[in-house]
Amino acid sequence: MRIVLLGAPGSGKGTQAALLKEHYSIPHISTGVLLREAVANATPLGQQAKAIMDRGELVPDDVMLNLIRERLAQSDVASGYILDGYPRNLSQAEALEQVLKELDLPVEEAVLIEVDADMVVERIAKRAAEEGRSDDTEEVVRNRMRVYEEQTAPVAGFYAEHGVLTRILGEGTIDEVQHRIRGALEQGNLA
Ligand code: AP5
Repeated sequence: MRIVLLGAPGSGKGTQAALLKEHYSIPHISTGVLLREAVANATPLGQQAKAIMDRGELVPDDVMLNLIRERLAQSDVASGYILDGYPRNLSQAEALEQVLKELDLPVEEAVLIEVDADMVVERIAKRAAEEGRSDDTEEVVRNRMRVYEEQTAPVAGFYAEHGVLTRILGEGTIDEVQHRIRGALEQGNLA
């Protein structure tokens, strides 16, 4: 199964991807996690990305393409993948399509998790209190949502044109959302 998860900040991409990974035994590739690891390890990538992430902006496309290309070249991806956080604009979507074509591992389904903006703000505020992620402050979250609307939301249209977009309601419990996603994947004969 080869899927891309799309959705606003706080829509539940990471949470749902972790459960899909367990259930289907395929790797969960989160560019947010890869970048936060690089920041924590103070690698050159982390040093470059930290200030950008802390403003809620996007790390440059060429940097992200190198990162995702390197990850997708690993052998575990042959069994499938769940991409979370990439692609985040149309240019990344086109670059990804090319890389996956070269690997002969095209996206089979793009799942857009749709959640009301107020709920997203509520979830992130809760996480901010619990985990203190440096980009979860109110001002940065507002910017992340603006960047999402302007740059990332059009990516859903890209996959719709390719005939592989599924929209899922991301409200309700974590288990309810997971059930909807698996139902959609099974209906599409992907699971
Ligand atoms: P990234 O880590 O991808 O952040 P994001 O897209 O803003 O997503 P979040 O992690 O905030 O939310 P999520 O949808 O995964 O929700 P989650 O499951 O955590 O990116 C961070 C930054 O890295 C970017 O701003 C950018 O700077 C950079 N970056 C990353 N990728 C990039 C790229 N491709 N190009 C350029 N730059 C890039 O859930 C949120 C909270 O809600 C959690 O606490 C969770 O427990 C809770 N929750 C989830 N589901 C439910 C539910 N159903 N009910 C109640 N609570 C729930």
